[in-house]
Formats: sequence, structure tokens, C-alpha cells
Amino acid sequence: MAKSLSLLLLLLSILTISASAFNGGASSFIKSKCSAATYPDLCVQSLSSFSSTIQRNPRQLVQTALAVSLSHAQSTRSFVWKLTKFSGLKPRERAALKDCMEEVGDTVDRLNKSVEELKRVSGSKKDFQWHISNVETWVSAAMTDENTCSDGFAGSALNGRIKSSVRGRIVDVTRVISNALSLINKYAENQS
Ligand SMILES: *[C@@H]1O[C@H](CO)[C@@H](O)[C@H](O)[C@H]1NC(C)=O
Repeated sequence: MAKSLSLLLLLLSILTISASAFNGGASSFIKSKCSAATYPDLCVQSLSSFSSTIQRNPRQLVQTALAVSLSHAQSTRSFVWKLTKFSGLKPRERAALKDCMEEVGDTVDRLNKSVEELKRVSGSKKDFQWHISNVETWVSAAMTDENTCSDGFAGSALNGRIKSSVRGRIVDVTRVISNALSLINKYAENQS
């Protein structure tokens, strides 16, 4: 009885140690890949809660980075959409927000397409190059859209508080996308 209990405890502690070694492996993997990203700290911060999905798999890493970008873009789109519903807006402000929402909508579409395209990446080298270059093109276009949205705010169409809250969101999305793009470029480089 005592013997089997200590055996059980031994077994449990081995399991615990290997589980934490495993997670540690995943998070050091994320950390090392993120060191090549444009914003390394943000990269680690946005990906580390997915370490059990990413494990040490480069493909999962870029897939997750894209999915995270998509989800940030989606939540920014609904944030801007909510702002357009404010009753106190001047027509010019509402118009600027609507334009911005369209830009963010394009970003969402492009990221969605990229996530789907990345799933198709497989097989021959030629096939890989084709799909991955589509992904690279669309993701970088998605980033440009975000910048356009910020530029639209550069003038004085929006009041200070709305402007700064939207801009904060846009900056976040742009950075997360920029990180995803640098991880994808690195991934493409390593595979070819
Ligand atoms: C992309 O959009 C299509 C159509 O709206 C949807 O069915 C699909 O689930 C989306 N993909 C992702 C990764 O969100």
C-alpha cells in the first residue's frame, strides 16, 4: 500500500516535471521565433497563451500568428462599428469612422483569405512558394489598409478622444500584423 502510494507519487511528479518541461519548451520556442519579429515583446505576449497549440511547430506558429491578427482586426472592426452608432457625432466624424471601418473590414477579409491560404500550403516546393507568396502579399496589403485608416484621422475630422482610442486600436492591429508578416517571411525563408 505504502509502496504503491509512493510509486504513484513518483509517477505524478515525473508527469508534472515532463509537462512543465514541455510547456517550457514551447514558450522558449515562441520566444526565440519572436526575437525575429518587428515587435518581439508584443509577439511573445500575443502568442504565449497558445503555446499548447503551437508546441514547437513552425507551421502552427505562423498559423496562430495569423489567427491572432485576424481576431484583433475583427474586434477593432466591431469597436469602430460601435463608435459609428454614437448619437453625438458630427457628420464628418461619422464619415471618417465609416471609412475606417471599411478599411478594417478589408483587413479582416485579407487576413481571413490568408488563414485559408496558409492551410493549403503543402506538398511540392513550387506549390509551397505559390501559396506562401499569396499569403505574404495579402498580409502586407492588410497592413497597408490599417495605415490608410490612421492616415484618414490625421486631419481634424474626429474629436480627440475618439481619435486616440481608434488610433490605439489601429496601432495594435498594425503591430500584430507586422509581427505575423515577419514570422511568415522567416518561415518561408527557412522552408525554401
Ligand atoms: C473566413 O470567412 C469565411 C466566410 O465568411 C468563413 O466561413 C471562414 O470561417 C472564415 N475563416 C476564418 C479563419 O475565420
